[in-house]
Amino acid sequence: MKIELTRRYSFAASHRLAHPRFTEEENRRLYGKCANPYGHGHNYVLEVTVAGPVDATTGMVANLADLDGFVQREVLDVFDHVYLNEQIEAFRPESGGQVPTTENLCIEIFRRLQPFPFARLCRVRLEETGRNSFEYAGQASRRP
Ligand code: NI
Repeated sequence: MKIELTRRYSFAASHRLAHPRFTEEENRRLYGKCANPYGHGHNYVLEVTVAGPVDATTGMVANLADLDGFVQREVLDVFDHVYLNEQIEAFRPESGGQVPTTENLCIEIFRRLQPFPFARLCRVRLEETGRNSFEYAGQASRRP
């Protein structure tokens, strides 16, 4: 028997969409105003889903305090109120980082949360605005 638990979090961060190999004009054409040189911010909404059996004693799939503490340490403390392009290694052009699209941010958050020890991480869903969101459930080959 398996049950899923989904918990919702939020954080604010800024970014700029621009690939270092492209010219300013190419970036502008590809990313539009998201390529503006001084960046812009989002209030991201993050949904984290974990799954597992219901513990026979506690009646819980995972303790919310454990999940909250883990997400706080691995994601919120890391990403809240930062400029993703400069302050997060995975997105720094100088470190060969990815463009900080919400797709890539979603994958990076999944990678950070995957070691959660008390239940299996199923997926993360990240809302960039009220109109678009992305979901990542890891690579199929690595799922048990
Ligand atoms: Ni944006």
